[in-house]
Amino acid sequence: MDTPYGDIPDRLARAMRPLEQHEYLQLSYGRRRLLKRAAVLGAAAVAGPVLWRQTGAVTGPAVGPGPQWIAFGGDPAAEMYVSWSESPGRGSFAGPRAPQVRWGTGSSDGSRQGASAGTVPVPAVTGEPTEQTVYCRTLLTGLLPGTTYRYSVSNDGVRWSPDATFTTGHHDGAGFRFTAFGDEATSMARAYPMAQLVAAQRPAFHLVAGDLAYATSNGIRLPDLGGFVPSRWNDYLKIVGPAAAQSVPWQAVVGAHETEPLGDDGYAGFVTRFPQAYDLASGSPVVRSFRYGNTVFVQLDGNDVSAQETVNAGYTRGLQTRWLARQLASFRASPGIDFIVVLCNCCCYSSNQTHGSDGGLREAWVPLFDRYQVDLVISGHVHAYERTNPMRAGQPTRRATSGDTVNPVTDGTTYICVGGGGNRLYTTWYGSTDAGDAGSAEPPKVWEWSGGEAAVGGHGRSLQVTDSARGFSAFRRAAYCCLSVDVTAATPAVPASMQIRALRPAQTLAAVTSIASPATMDTVTLIRRPAPGSPIRHPAPSPLPWVLGGAGAAVMAGGAAAYVIRRRGPAARDRADGTS
Ligand SMILES: [Fe+2]
Repeated sequence: MDTPYGDIPDRLARAMRPLEQHEYLQLSYGRRRLLKRAAVLGAAAVAGPVLWRQTGAVTGPAVGPGPQWIAFGGDPAAEMYVSWSESPGRGSFAGPRAPQVRWGTGSSDGSRQGASAGTVPVPAVTGEPTEQTVYCRTLLTGLLPGTTYRYSVSNDGVRWSPDATFTTGHHDGAGFRFTAFGDEATSMARAYPMAQLVAAQRPAFHLVAGDLAYATSNGIRLPDLGGFVPSRWNDYLKIVGPAAAQSVPWQAVVGAHETEPLGDDGYAGFVTRFPQAYDLASGSPVVRSFRYGNTVFVQLDGNDVSAQETVNAGYTRGLQTRWLARQLASFRASPGIDFIVVLCNCCCYSSNQTHGSDGGLREAWVPLFDRYQVDLVISGHVHAYERTNPMRAGQPTRRATSGDTVNPVTDGTTYICVGGGGNRLYTTWYGSTDAGDAGSAEPPKVWEWSGGEAAVGGHGRSLQVTDSARGFSAFRRAAYCCLSVDVTAATPAVPASMQIRALRPAQTLAAVTSIASPATMDTVTLIRRPAPGSPIRHPAPSPLPWVLGGAGAAVMAGGAAAYVIRRRGPAARDRADGTS
């Protein structure tokens, strides 16, 4: 195939990983080659005069900064990243002359610190102007724990943004609250009030379970880059910054929609916009963990092991999974840590008819979650809410109805999908649930690799098959929803607790109409009393008669009737995704 965008065969383009796409575009759209091709193909108007955009190409008068957003550094009690956008879309553009932050406890006009500016080098063929891709950042260090600071950002030391505040974390026994959801997009009718709902909970931080701006809403389909719209990132930041993220640390993981035709395995845009203390020992540029109070949070990249979202399958060559094992072993051996929470995009267990369960994650990571008694796994990807009964070895160990208390040591891990952060909902379900939305007679399905999963990625074809896990759905509802979680530390008399509430604001399918009095549609409390020095127990899952009905058992026996509904590659993913 020879198109105005290149001569790469379509079948190869669709099989490319993001880094390969990035390298291909760099080679194909080098200046000399572009001019030559433009002359031949008359494509200059499409491609533009600059083929790989650079910061140094911009000049002009300064404009005000913002919006801004924050995220934890390596130590949430002492370090905070402050980031902001270079006022894209306001006409003339200067670039960062002297980007800086000022901050203090009583007034923002206390200390000052310079910031760096970074450009996301988006391919010019997208038609995006350069000023859409410049972001500033700085890491504030030496902060006091549990302290609220006022801060303001500036591009030139003259014009300053309005003051905002942030509060550092702590490692003591004080309780705290965090919130979570994923799959936000850029709707003012949904993403904006959902971000406002986060701020209204006054959490210590917010976990974003991937799929933020949908700048690759139609996926990456070289040579057609029509689905790659980097300016959606600025639409997104203009929504979440003022509404919440300028004061609530925005702890985000990547989803499939964060893979772009850029460097850093497709994540150059993400890491430029969202600096965090990423741990490169994971083999990934977007993976990290942090401790807050008595809990550790592990932010993973499920694209590495997913059997459904295969564009980056196996890119860490098993490093991330080995890193995860080391992290979990270390955390579980630390006496000051009660809870372990994992955040990723795809769902290990989902009974939704869109996307559904991901067997790639199950095969690579669930044995580690079992072994190290991970308490809670939060995901998105499926645009709905679903909580599992506590799980061990791929099956529920007991029922946990709304309002119940779960002991992860004896009961197992709770998995919650909270993908109703603003993008349109997925409303149809397979099988049955203990509470919530009705489903169908057809049992849930799971994505698997036909050749199995290995450390370097899945083998064979990506298949959706009938799931052997049964009875895992404790509560499910297609709803815009924010998870609000209150964590307390153990005392000699009271175990550590993690009270999880699924908040459902007033809504229609098209809009979140009010966040004034969100309903608690589902709740469960995890408890854990640490026993220093005691060995980790692995209770065997008990066969529960309510898990397998006669019809379900019959379908399980027919598992060989697996069928293929998607093939490897982003184009197939997009058809199934249906996201806008
Ligand atoms: Fe999504």
